[in-house]
Amino acid sequence: MKISTVSIFPSMFEAVTGYGMTRLAIDRGILALKIFNPRDFTLDRNRTVDGRPYGGGPGMVMKPEPLSRCLDEARKTTPGPVVFMTPQGTLFNQSMAEGLARLDGFTLLTGRYEGIDERIVESRVDLEVSIGDVVLTGGEIPSMMIIDAISRLLPGVLGNSESAEQDSFSQGMLDYPHYTRPEIFEGRAVPGVLLSGNHEKIRMWRMEQSRIRTRKRRPDLFARWAGTEDTGDCPHH
Ligand code: ADE
Repeated sequence: MKISTVSIFPSMFEAVTGYGMTRLAIDRGILALKIFNPRDFTLDRNRTVDGRPYGGGPGMVMKPEPLSRCLDEARKTTPGPVVFMTPQGTLFNQSMAEGLARLDGFTLLTGRYEGIDERIVESRVDLEVSIGDVVLTGGEIPSMMIIDAISRLLPGVLGNSESAEQDSFSQGMLDYPHYTRPEIFEGRAVPGVLLSGNHEKIRMWRMEQSRIRTRKRRPDLFARWAGTEDTGDCPHH
């Protein structure tokens, strides 16, 4: 998987290149991450990447020329679509992560300030993605969310190849609770069924816990799950 990112703050990406499973994916050669800085594609002595908005208003807008040159350079070596991180985009979720993880690569475009010149979106962006109904100061953290979510889906990254399939959302349900030693912590005991050694009973208990949690915390997910799956004993409301 080849991911390029276009950002004026390249060192922010050390959060994914330097730690945990994302770093492991890079070290193993499963993920190649290349960072391109639009400031390196400016031609003026001040290396200007932003300008005042036509029509007035607060804040600055990222100029099109450094972005276009930077993007064109990134795309020379990166296959796949250009994905622009913006609160105006399609909401990111697990199924989008799964779709992106199947590609050979893609380019993440991240803005700062009030936004980027719309002509870059028109001419070079294939997909606009938002990580949630919230406004951040730039697209770097959203980009890293995407890189992180995708890296753990790539074959050879997770220790247990089943963990990605079993976890939250991949089945459309929230995860069940997890426990490790000690058996009693601050007077709270691990549910007895998990100590029973009865794998079928454990599986059933975990399914039930997932269902209880999903129904209580995410009725929207629960309704979708209940509507697509005939479980017989599933309570409908
Ligand atoms: N940039 C600023 N806020 C964002 C969001 N919610 N999603 C993607 N990119 C963003």
